[in-house]
Amino acid sequence: MNILEIIKKRSSCRSYTGEPVSAADKDRLTDFINRSGSGPFGSQPVFKLIMSAPGDSESLKGLGTYGFIRKPAGFIIGSITQSPMNLEDFGYCMEKIILYATEMGLGTCWLGGTFKKSRFADKAAVGKDRIIPAVAATGYAAKRKTLTEKIVRASAGADKRKSVHEIFFSSELERLDDEFYRSSYGTVLEMVRRAPSASNKQPWRIICGSSKNNFHLFLERTKDYNKSRFITSDLQRIDMGIAMCHFELAAKACELDGAWIKKAPEGIRVSPGWEYIASWH
Ligand SMILES: Cc1cc2nc3c(=O)[nH]c(=O)nc-3n(C[C@H](O)[C@H](O)[C@H](O)COP(=O)(O)O)c2cc1C
Repeated sequence: MNILEIIKKRSSCRSYTGEPVSAADKDRLTDFINRSGSGPFGSQPVFKLIMSAPGDSESLKGLGTYGFIRKPAGFIIGSITQSPMNLEDFGYCMEKIILYATEMGLGTCWLGGTFKKSRFADKAAVGKDRIIPAVAATGYAAKRKTLTEKIVRASAGADKRKSVHEIFFSSELERLDDEFYRSSYGTVLEMVRRAPSASNKQPWRIICGSSKNNFHLFLERTKDYNKSRFITSDLQRIDMGIAMCHFELAAKACELDGAWIKKAPEGIRVSPGWEYIASWH
């Protein structure tokens, strides 16, 4: 399946059938997880797949997702050591796994707030030197969404994406024109717009440099977001890594060569408060 189609197909799934994932699917996903490399800033998260066995759907119950996730077949648990840009790397690597699971026909849901970290750390035997910034539920999606899922989606405004003009800008911090959005890079940016983000806050901002194939990625933080009692990792930095993953995979699919570098652009206007993350050249 084309990655653009996979990105369009993905949406967070919080209601599963409860059926264990088949041995073949589990092996396929495990194999992909084991081949997961490092992120664009060089740190390497470690991922583990914890799945319920046939006839043993109870085994995951104690993990604790505060009732938001119904009957998952398992979880993808990622951990990382402390280093600069580790959360961006984490988001980038984990999202590759999420998109692979989507291609396999599995439902997924990122969980950054609504999971009990200590229980997941015990289950995946994560050492004290590592942190679990987020996990993902996975399994076969139920045909119907539960009421809780409908409420969670509605309260996160999950179906409401910001318009392109709120998140993508020219080097003068103005709107990119319609012609740009009809180009291959327009497709790439649309794939970023479809990325999942914590509470659907969509904190990514991209400035298209004057040469038209330079893109600068910034984080515009949601005010007081990290003050919520559920938020124990800097989830908006994870969101930035996810956006980088979508950008890079979409650019490859559109046959646009390029790479990430971290060198803040000079001479372009930036909104006050935006944090520079990386540039695509
Ligand atoms: C880093 C991160 C953390 C998230 N944490 C949670 C969570 O704790 N609970 C939850 O139900 N959804 C969580 N989500 C899912 C978002 O709410 C969801 O991606 C967003 O509302 C957009 O909806 P979509 O994924 O269906 O496109 C998280 C997403 C990301 C990227």
